[in-house]
Amino acid sequence: MHTRVRVPDFGGKKRRGEKIVMLTAYDATMASLFDQSGVDALLVGDSLGTVILGHEDTLQVTLEAVVHHTRAVISGARRALVVADMPFLTFQVCVAAAVRNAGRLIQEGGAAAVKIEGGRPSLSVVKRLVDIGIPVMGHLGLQPQSVHQVGGYRRRATDPAGAEALLTDAMALQEAGAFAVVLEAVPPDVARSVTQHLVIPTIGIAAGPHCDGQILVSYDMLGLSADSAPPFVQPYARIADTIRSATQAYAADVRAGRYATPGAAGVAVAASN
Ligand code: KIV
Repeated sequence: MHTRVRVPDFGGKKRRGEKIVMLTAYDATMASLFDQSGVDALLVGDSLGTVILGHEDTLQVTLEAVVHHTRAVISGARRALVVADMPFLTFQVCVAAAVRNAGRLIQEGGAAAVKIEGGRPSLSVVKRLVDIGIPVMGHLGLQPQSVHQVGGYRRRATDPAGAEALLTDAMALQEAGAFAVVLEAVPPDVARSVTQHLVIPTIGIAAGPHCDGQILVSYDMLGLSADSAPPFVQPYARIADTIRSATQAYAADVRAGRYATPGAAGVAVAASN
């Protein structure tokens, strides 16, 4: 029986120099596998819009969808801390709505913390949530909810002014009470500098090796989103190929009338089902 990872453990890991391992998760089966593999925290990211629902971006993801998927992830995760993303327009309208919506992710979804995109513009929300006991993970650098404003998914903080602004935002989030901050698509030396200035951990994605932890979209890490994974991702498996070849073998067996006989191609474990 493993002890559940808690929000204060994030700071402890940074102080001890232990890297924090994060992945996104959207369902109970995968959450359970990641949990069994020792992942420290699972993010029910609004990337579920693109990864699971087939949308072009994350902007159509609703609070209901994140609550729904968070409940699934919670039932698969025994040890990992579960963080739920606040989708577009669930925290930007006003602090009161943000409190209600974050409250639903905790109360109905079962998450232990929420993640919010943005630096200084999001501070009043971050402060209020932390004040009422809802832990907040910040998200700086590339912010997918601002895709139209920026004109695409571009690397951020690539010049000295951008790097300075990123550090100011990160310090402000820390001051507001965020317990960690995701740094997405920023240069490694900028991520290192922010990491050195902060007491709270940084969690990098496409930000080099110097952050206190790393997160990837799990489908990219597993090679499941083979045709759409961003170029920076180094897959650790080629699950899409495995699924395609297993499905082709199954289809061939069914069409040849071999399913389900001892001569069918299915692996041994399938026979016991
Ligand atoms: O929605 C998401 O999956 C994210 C991570 C990529 C950080 O925000």
